[in-house]
Amino acid sequence: MKDKEVLVIYKSKYGATERYAKWIAEELGCEAIPAKEAKLKRIRDYDMLIFGGGLYAGTIGGISKLTGRFEDLKKKHLMVFTCGLTEPGDNGYYTYLITRNFTEVMRKRIHFFFFPGAIDKDKLSWLDKKLMTAVMKSQAKKDPEHAEDYLAMKHDLVDRKYIGSLVEKAQGILQEDRDKRAYQQQLRQEALQRAQEEEEAAQKAFEEKKARFAAMDQAEFEARKARILAKEAEKEKKE
Ligand SMILES: Cc1cc2nc3c(=O)[nH]c(=O)nc-3n(C[C@H](O)[C@H](O)[C@H](O)COP(=O)(O)O)c2cc1C
Repeated sequence: MKDKEVLVIYKSKYGATERYAKWIAEELGCEAIPAKEAKLKRIRDYDMLIFGGGLYAGTIGGISKLTGRFEDLKKKHLMVFTCGLTEPGDNGYYTYLITRNFTEVMRKRIHFFFFPGAIDKDKLSWLDKKLMTAVMKSQAKKDPEHAEDYLAMKHDLVDRKYIGSLVEKAQGILQEDRDKRAYQQQLRQEALQRAQEEEEAAQKAFEEKKARFAAMDQAEFEARKARILAKEAEKEKKE
């Protein structure tokens, strides 16, 4: 693999997004780093950047690391995955999410993937627990059949199987880049070989010309010598 081909950058508060990030990095054979370590200097040489963030009140954790520096990063291959409790098939929610978090130009350049997350009431901070309890209470009211489930706030829907589509897409793009690089390298090599062959042919032609001139010079020299000797002989005859 080319050095600095792909990098995964993630922001995870309770570890669900981090699990996905590390699985993706494992599959792609690359590094996964927390968003706080993703300084522009560290990430700008990669061909592909994959950002992952947990969903918090309709925002994607750490996403400013991409949106805030989009001008510097827009020529790369860009992917975003989210990790949240909203069902990944809820198109209305996710359309709203990406419209809210990305401009139209950004949306055209980025590949999006949505993965299911996890929640554990006992691990939440005081504020997060309060917020989520309110959300879950209203969910329980809307869907009384699963009320207990909502209020328990203990779900872990994180599963490695969900990363398949992202990994496949990333591998396809990276392979295309590798093929392009290999083709360009081949073209460069062929051009180099052609130039070398042309140079050798030119050198050969020059050597042949030189040899021809040398032969002509020799013939000319002999003819002059013969003329001089003939003149001398003529002179001697007259005397
Ligand atoms: C305070 C709070 C707000 C949340 N807001 C959303 C949300 O807007 N949409 C959503 O789908 N999930 C939401 N969730 C669920 C988290 O996205 C989910 O727990 C996710 O797995 C967290 O990822 P992390 O462990 O990597 O931080 C919220 C969770 C908490 C605690």
